[in-house]
Amino acid sequence: MPCECCKITNDQFGKDTAEADLKEFHRKGPADHTRLILAAVRSLGFKDASLLDVGGGIGAIYHELMKDTVTRATHVDASSAYLNAARTETERRGNAGRVEFVHADFTDVAETLAPADVVTLDRVVCCYPDYRALLKAAAGRSRRALALAYPRDNWLSRAVVKVMNLTLRIMRDPFRVFVHPVAAMDSLLNAEGLHRVSLSRLFVWEVALYQRS
Ligand SMILES: C[S@@+](CC[C@H](N)C(=O)[O-])C[C@H]1O[C@@H](n2cnc3c(N)ncnc32)[C@H](O)[C@@H]1O
Repeated sequence: MPCECCKITNDQFGKDTAEADLKEFHRKGPADHTRLILAAVRSLGFKDASLLDVGGGIGAIYHELMKDTVTRATHVDASSAYLNAARTETERRGNAGRVEFVHADFTDVAETLAPADVVTLDRVVCCYPDYRALLKAAAGRSRRALALAYPRDNWLSRAVVKVMNLTLRIMRDPFRVFVHPVAAMDSLLNAEGLHRVSLSRLFVWEVALYQRS
């Protein structure tokens, strides 16, 4: 984990966060934004697909999609604690051997990974300053589709994120949150040959599904 940015992310999503997220997943199932990603991917009707889950946290997306859509997955994450929790849950579900776990900044390792039918980024761009590098790398690994959840690009999200970042700064926490421009993310993905086929919204989050044309 050489890059400073990923060390910060690794520290931010530690053991307590990962254990709490896994507990919540066992209690309630996937979070609402994750459910939207699952519905979007399932709407494509893929079978026996491969998945590349970038920043997958506890792995909710492939734990669910392995029931009907996906046969193998690669999970790249900057957080070792999330990867440990995801691996434990994968083994508990009898899916060990079907998931590859990679501890890295995705932008550093993307070119070494095999392309996948579907690439997912559930609340990941908002944790990464350089959305261009992240999305370009993700698009480059997507054979057929890409789905992502990100904060809605409006004054309310920007105000909330400003307050969050100010609080982090006061607490001398180097982690930062980002609301990236949705129109620019869309143009970038279009330039990579991916076109938006659906968009769904929650109060905070937006989920977009892209397909390769
Ligand atoms: C807010 S958490 C979201 C976790 C999960 N996807 C969810 O929605 O519950 C952000 C995740 O993105 C990962 N992440 C952020 N930037 C990353 C990068 N450049 N490469 C790999 N993982 C990254 C973090 O380690 C963390 O797992």
